[in-house]
Amino acid sequence: MKHFLSTKDLSSNELIKILEVAEQYSQSGQPKFQCQLFAANLFFEPSTRTKLSFLVAEKKLGIETLDLQMEASSLTKGESIYDTAKTCEAVGANLLVIRHQEDNWYEELVNHLQIPIINAGAGIGEHPTQCMLDLLTIYQDFGYFSGLNIVIVGDIKHSRVARSNAQALHTLGANVFFAAAPGFEDKSLDFPYISIDEAVEMCDVLMLLRIQHERHEEKNYDSTSYHEKYGLTIRREQKMRDSAIILHPAPVNRGVELASELVECSRSRIFKQMNNGVYIRMAIITTLLKDWGMQNEIITQKRNSLNGIKCS
Ligand code: CP
Repeated sequence: MKHFLSTKDLSSNELIKILEVAEQYSQSGQPKFQCQLFAANLFFEPSTRTKLSFLVAEKKLGIETLDLQMEASSLTKGESIYDTAKTCEAVGANLLVIRHQEDNWYEELVNHLQIPIINAGAGIGEHPTQCMLDLLTIYQDFGYFSGLNIVIVGDIKHSRVARSNAQALHTLGANVFFAAAPGFEDKSLDFPYISIDEAVEMCDVLMLLRIQHERHEEKNYDSTSYHEKYGLTIRREQKMRDSAIILHPAPVNRGVELASELVECSRSRIFKQMNNGVYIRMAIITTLLKDWGMQNEIITQKRNSLNGIKCS
């Protein structure tokens, strides 16, 4: 794997392998690079959990972080994402983590950079590392994907999370459904739509999505009536199967996508997802660096033993 940009081209084996590495890091030990490596984190769009979990993942791996503050960078002089990324490579970055508002910002970069690139969010295109941490969270509860009923609920049209997850879950054999208010459907994704009331009764996983206010041209819904008609109310949650779980990539619009009381209810995995974000990002980074021949001489901290690979 040269870059981590989309779930579209990942096989079932590749997806599961990353989950297994992340699960190993969360359970039995974490590697640390012994050679000096730099990761440049370029967030052209705001982020809390993705950026923080990449920073924690990189620091746990012993990778030094280059965190460009966009408002104090040469972007304010009109420098492009391409020239910014090339600059990071030129000063010695070994890895680029990028979030940008364009759906396909990486297409030009992949042909002109000699370091791995990770997509930390691309417009309304894809958010593949969010998808991987969602998959890890599901895997920890169920141990498999084939035949699970997974309903992705909410603002499908403006969601990069929906696209990445629907593709990967389909690859893994899950039954993927969408539920959306009128106007929030995305007909470019070929999955069946059901109502939220059907969803709560049949799902194993209810994956709620944030309403992406910042991507709407105008506010065309009322939060209270949206919650009652299309959201996870307390009454609807009571109809879910005992084993069913709730996911949400966050940030959450409390009282809109779901009742505020449900954010930390027993079937909610929302903060577990964030915790898994650190391990999944560690797993993606080590997988990429290994494939680029840069994973060398790592030690497993908890076990305190060398695994015997050398720095170049
Ligand atoms: N889920 C997610 O991408 O959150 P942030 O925008 O806070 O990174």
